[in-house]
Amino acid sequence: MSTHISVPPQLLLERILTLEIVRVTERAAVSAARLRGHGNEKAADQAAVDAMRRELNKLPIEGTVVIGEGERDEAPMLFIGEKVGINAGPKVDIAVDPLEGTTLCAKNMPGAIATMAMADGGTLLHAPDVYMQKIAVGPGYKKGVVELDASPADNVRRLAKAKGVDPSAITVLVLDRPRHADIINGVRSTGAAVRLITDGDVAGVIHCADPDNTGVDMYIGTGGAPEGVLAAAALRCIGGQMQCRLILDSEEKRERARKMGVVDPRMIYGIEDMAKGDCLFAATGVTDGSLLSGVKFRKDVIHTETVVMRSVTGTVRYIKAEHRQLEKFHLD
Ligand code: FBP
Repeated sequence: MSTHISVPPQLLLERILTLEIVRVTERAAVSAARLRGHGNEKAADQAAVDAMRRELNKLPIEGTVVIGEGERDEAPMLFIGEKVGINAGPKVDIAVDPLEGTTLCAKNMPGAIATMAMADGGTLLHAPDVYMQKIAVGPGYKKGVVELDASPADNVRRLAKAKGVDPSAITVLVLDRPRHADIINGVRSTGAAVRLITDGDVAGVIHCADPDNTGVDMYIGTGGAPEGVLAAAALRCIGGQMQCRLILDSEEKRERARKMGVVDPRMIYGIEDMAKGDCLFAATGVTDGSLLSGVKFRKDVIHTETVVMRSVTGTVRYIKAEHRQLEKFHLD
């Protein structure tokens, strides 16, 4: 007797798209990696943008870039509102950061990635390219265990209590910026450890989802809003909590945000406010990092490592790829 399992076309397509978005971030990562250590942030970013856009335009989707390289007047490619895909297939929102950690790539330092998320149309937050306050922890805690407006010391103590450990067993990841001096001092005042990163808070937030392996329990700090939405999409897939607030400290920024549909400029966004529906998230390493290995160029093969996640099932796949049709990559 044959059993026939019918899968709705939308779900089937979404499963197929999981591998397709891996191709997108792989190509962007390889293009950027060719310029690792060249000291030229712009060129590396442009190479990643070109490759990502080219690959996105092959996908069977009606995609709209909602998190991109900037607003239409300042970004020639992958600008917010740009249509991508073959204009047939599901309507989806696309969030991209073709090269997250441009300085890391230019200096050939650990942690640069190429990353994107895809979600049902109209479900990703349309965030302007401004700063955003963020706090994130991994899965397994009761809702509200940490809060954006609580002090860093308080949040460490609350998390330590929930985890059943002393605050000294907690590690908080923070971007190394002068603006974070109070956060760093507050965390250290509890006996907890601070791990500083120079760039790359999408990966920073993702680290919180697996404290046993990454050694990171919590992320606190202010980084880019686009990176915040990408990180929220990732946590939507793997679990965890995040609270964020856009920093709209001028009338000009508030106006830009209003035009993108932000009604309350002081709103605290949770994961479900930034990624409301089902989504896919992928990131490929450009330089070696604690999350992913970077691109390796060998004589006849290019190696990449990608993590791809799907919120419907919570599946997380690490894909190590060997690319042999190198001529495809010489398009870049
Ligand atoms: P870029 O790749 O655009 O350089 O962003 C890197 C990054 O570190 C992000 O991960 C982070 O959100 C943001 O910059 C922080 O901004 P700033 O460098 O202005 O403090």
